[in-house]
Amino acid sequence: MQNQHEIIIETENLGKTFFVGSREIEVLKDVNLKIFSTEFVVIFGPSGCGKSTLLNTIIGLEKPTHGKVFTRNQEIYALTEDERGILRSKKMGIIHQMSYWVKALNVLENVAMPLLIEGEKQHRAFLHAEKILEELSIINLADQLPNQLSGGEQQKVALARALITNPWIIIADEPAGNLDSKSADEMMNLLVRLNKETKRTIVLVTHNQDCWELGNRRLEMKDGQIIKDEYHG
Ligand SMILES: Nc1ncnc2c1ncn2[C@@H]1O[C@H](COP(=O)(O)OP(=O)(O)O)[C@@H](O)[C@H]1O
Ligand SMILES: [Mg+2]
Repeated sequence: MQNQHEIIIETENLGKTFFVGSREIEVLKDVNLKIFSTEFVVIFGPSGCGKSTLLNTIIGLEKPTHGKVFTRNQEIYALTEDERGILRSKKMGIIHQMSYWVKALNVLENVAMPLLIEGEKQHRAFLHAEKILEELSIINLADQLPNQLSGGEQQKVALARALITNPWIIIADEPAGNLDSKSADEMMNLLVRLNKETKRTIVLVTHNQDCWELGNRRLEMKDGQIIKDEYHG
């Protein structure tokens, strides 16, 4: 059972400044944030306000200029880059606006890939991948090549791949940003279902105003800071 009070991600005075030539761009300004187990957090804010940088810092890809990031009490930038990579691939399910595939492999094989990389036996990895595809009602896509799929189908498959390692948290950066409105709705409904039915902890960045009420918590960012943090629903 997930403990609703357990902190999955915590940031402490998180700051990030990019240096471009002689210019300094302060993108994150002392962000303090706790994300608890089973929460569905929706983050929004104008383009360029630092949403993706915040997520990239949280998943261990973008070292902060100052401050700390913890995931389940592990300070992630105290780990080596390799250790961070392992933590990310095992414990974080990440979805971007665009998904990348091993083009020669079918959907089932792509979804099973994270387990195969971990050394899981092939038949077990495939069984597990089938189960997740069934759970998301996309088992019909199993034999297809990713490039044969629509954008909406690809994003659902990306979600399946993100789930296969049974991660602590799903982190989605504008996962429906490239989709038509019907496919975007389907993708969002799937995230809502996962959170409601299986208590998945989810962080979603979206610019789509219709989605701001989806989760149980809404964070508004502006100029590298969280300016509103509200629970609702
Ligand atoms: N690697 C980088 N080097 C320099 N500037 C960057 C880099 N990544 C992001 N930025 C800048 O940081 C700001 C915030 O970007 P980003 O986090 O992508 O915003 P958002 O996701 O909210 O649109 C932007 O001004 C962007 O140009
Ligand atoms: Mg972004």
